[in-house]
Amino acid sequence: MSEPQPVYLSDYQPPAYRVTHTQLTFELDPAATRVKARLLLERHPERETGLPLELDGEHLSLKSIALDGRPLEAADYELTEQGLRIPQVPERFVLDTEVEISPRDNTALQGLYQSSGIYCTQCEAEGFRRITFYPDRPDVMATFSTTLIGDATAEPVLLSNGNPVEKGTLDDGRHFVTWEDPHPKPSYLFALVAGDLKKVADRFTTMHGREVSLEIWVEEENLDKTDHAMASLKRAMKWDEETYGREYDLDLFMIVAVNDFNMGAMENKGLNIFNSAAVLTHPKTATDVAYQRVEGIVAHEYFHNWSGNRVTCRDWFQLSLKEGFTVFRDQCYSADTNSAPVKRIQDVSFFRTAQFAEDAGPTAHPIRPDHYIEITNFYTLTIYEKGSEVVRMLRNLLGWEAFRRGSDLYFDRFDGQAVTIEDFVDCMAEASGEDLTRFMRWYSQAGTPEIDAHGEYDYVTSEYRLTLRQRTPATPGQQDKQPLHIPVRLGLVGTKSGRDLNMTLGGETLGRDAVIHLREDEQEFLFTDVAESPIPSLLRHFSAPVKLHFPYSREDLAFLLQHDSDGFNRWDAGQRLALLALDDLIAAHRNGVEKVMDSRVTDAFRTLLTSRIDDKAVLAEMLTLPSEAYIAEQQPLVDVDAIHAAREFVRQSLALALRDEFLAVFEANQSDAPYAPEPEQIAQRSLKNVALSYLMAIEDEQGLAFAQAQFDADHNMTDVRHALTLLVHSSRDDLASPALKAFGETWAHDPLVMDQWFSLQVTRPQEDAVERVKFLMQHPAFSLKNPNKVRALIGAFASQNRVNFHRLDGEGYKLLADVVIELNRLNPEIAARLITPLTRWQRFDEQRQALMKAELERIKAEPLSPNVYEVVAKALA
Ligand code: ARG
Ligand code: ZN
Repeated sequence: MSEPQPVYLSDYQPPAYRVTHTQLTFELDPAATRVKARLLLERHPERETGLPLELDGEHLSLKSIALDGRPLEAADYELTEQGLRIPQVPERFVLDTEVEISPRDNTALQGLYQSSGIYCTQCEAEGFRRITFYPDRPDVMATFSTTLIGDATAEPVLLSNGNPVEKGTLDDGRHFVTWEDPHPKPSYLFALVAGDLKKVADRFTTMHGREVSLEIWVEEENLDKTDHAMASLKRAMKWDEETYGREYDLDLFMIVAVNDFNMGAMENKGLNIFNSAAVLTHPKTATDVAYQRVEGIVAHEYFHNWSGNRVTCRDWFQLSLKEGFTVFRDQCYSADTNSAPVKRIQDVSFFRTAQFAEDAGPTAHPIRPDHYIEITNFYTLTIYEKGSEVVRMLRNLLGWEAFRRGSDLYFDRFDGQAVTIEDFVDCMAEASGEDLTRFMRWYSQAGTPEIDAHGEYDYVTSEYRLTLRQRTPATPGQQDKQPLHIPVRLGLVGTKSGRDLNMTLGGETLGRDAVIHLREDEQEFLFTDVAESPIPSLLRHFSAPVKLHFPYSREDLAFLLQHDSDGFNRWDAGQRLALLALDDLIAAHRNGVEKVMDSRVTDAFRTLLTSRIDDKAVLAEMLTLPSEAYIAEQQPLVDVDAIHAAREFVRQSLALALRDEFLAVFEANQSDAPYAPEPEQIAQRSLKNVALSYLMAIEDEQGLAFAQAQFDADHNMTDVRHALTLLVHSSRDDLASPALKAFGETWAHDPLVMDQWFSLQVTRPQEDAVERVKFLMQHPAFSLKNPNKVRALIGAFASQNRVNFHRLDGEGYKLLADVVIELNRLNPEIAARLITPLTRWQRFDEQRQALMKAELERIKAEPLSPNVYEVVAKALA
């Protein structure tokens, strides 16, 4: 096999021909679906005449082809693995093709496939070429008219984009529906769904009085699980009108839930297709986290109707144009509808753990990559989450009003077009008058910038001198890094008063909370008239996606944890304090020295637990120790066992020292109120469950009894799952086994609950985890063909069960590699994603490095999909 070749941004050219209208007819059949396509084509005005027509097409069997009504001879065109080429075409013409495809055998879940008997599609990024021959690139935008022909019994429901315009019955008893989408769109936004689905319907009246029908289509047994998604959709529609002035533009908006889906969901015009895990909720089957995830994803896909569909990407290098902006929009929406401080803490906590690791590994890439082999490998935390952080910085730099003007200008100027990241940033610059030239480097430079900060207070002159130095470590293919424009939001907290001090910089009064701008490698900021010796609170709200180093003492951190006016940095001070203590314990573990708990951490926790509680959700976050993955991120060399031992030691020490306090919090936050996914209830449940986790860390009789009782009470899935996880992760198999068995039997019929049942077992720290994964892979509810199952079992094991995945006999690595090799044939996109933990081998000791690399080499020796090839080649480069 020849090595797959990369595509380069610098090679971009407009297409030779564009499509003005696309007419599709599907005759559905599991193994032999016929797709007729009539394309109205014309030469692109910016391209020369006489160019060949090149259409993408993969896994298609061509049945007929005609140009302007004249059937083509074999000599008139060339067919390859990648598509179809017609050397000679007129300036303007009609192309008719008919192909056959097999949705039933499509395990890659791209293009047209069947999921639990339902036909559905996933075309982003390059799935449409598995449906018909087409210029499958986002800068070709056409109106679509789609006719679906299906069996009236097996496929009573036939859906596509836009509005239904005709339906009827054919002579042979089959029925058909024709859909028309008046909005020109790229092929990646095409969708169809056909099968026996039931709908829940509602309505929304837009700001200008347009009546929109809202429909959520699910399998019959899930009709009682759509309320939350529907309520979220309506809230999101309203929010986008109020916040961005964006109104929906069709008479119908549909969401369909399918069981087999590679990602969370897809924003196809008027017909969003969702992973059922991202739509379905019920108090008995979904946790608070799942409810919040559903709300966020429903909003995200809806927001794409403007940031993505009305204005789309010129090419896939611009993916973050729609994804970064849309993630930013959905994060703000969720912050507005739930607890804003907690949303930020959770987003940042996840970001610093997972995106920082991506930025530090062999697959690091800029928000706008300049080359790729397989675009599906670039649906990453960098494109999505770092992209969102960069948009957030723009909002903060410009201020909301100018940012909103920039956004209006962008939607206005580029409506119906396929554009670039520059187009977006230019609108922001134009609307605000800001020079964003240097800021653009955020898009082209990979890696996480690090800021070394240090400060000095002069008692005589009352000056505080803050020095900030930035550097971005080299990443693969990018050795030299330029300084970035980094907004640092800060306050100076007086050590006497505990208050934010007034800040004066260069004679200008900044107030008590302000943003300073680091643009050079190194800058000094001299604050004058600083009333008392301060501790700086830096990077408030995580004002830039960077690592900040400041030589805080533990006393400083304990002080900030109590006094910082910025809730986010109060939480962060607690995390930093815990990390310092963990560092000592990790060293002690490695050196075989007795571990001693840092009393400053215990004292800080006691203060948190006993002071007046304003926001229970924030408190729950503050009482949560940094995860093993985040601790690992801070270490020069990752010692998984020492990290696990140190963190367990801290949990147990805190539980022993503060048992009564945790008990009091647990008991004070019990509630029998009927379940509602409301912020107050969620906050109370998280706080209670954090307390229960500590009580279970020492496994005393009371903790065990509480966990068992919470499981037995069966009040809602959040509490049941938490209690079950604690039991299963405890040493008490006598309690865990019956609970696990009962739960597994009760929910055997519900795939989304079984996913949770799989995950909580394979993340347990006990030594039998690898064997349990293998055992559960044989379970009737497991299937390698279902991405949710793969994530729940193998993904959860490899990324969340660090001590067992990194077992020194290499069995964890081997297991993952075996699955990757098998999935490489079935579903390359999922296979490539699953490798991630193995690609991080440089971070571990030599013995583990060797074992991990050996597994990567073993994968590399296989005949590989471009997806897996690209990741493995980078990991071994
Ligand atoms: N645009 C979708 C979303 O973020 C994701 C589509 C991902 N497609 C893929 N093949 N990975 O909402
Ligand atoms: Zn998206």
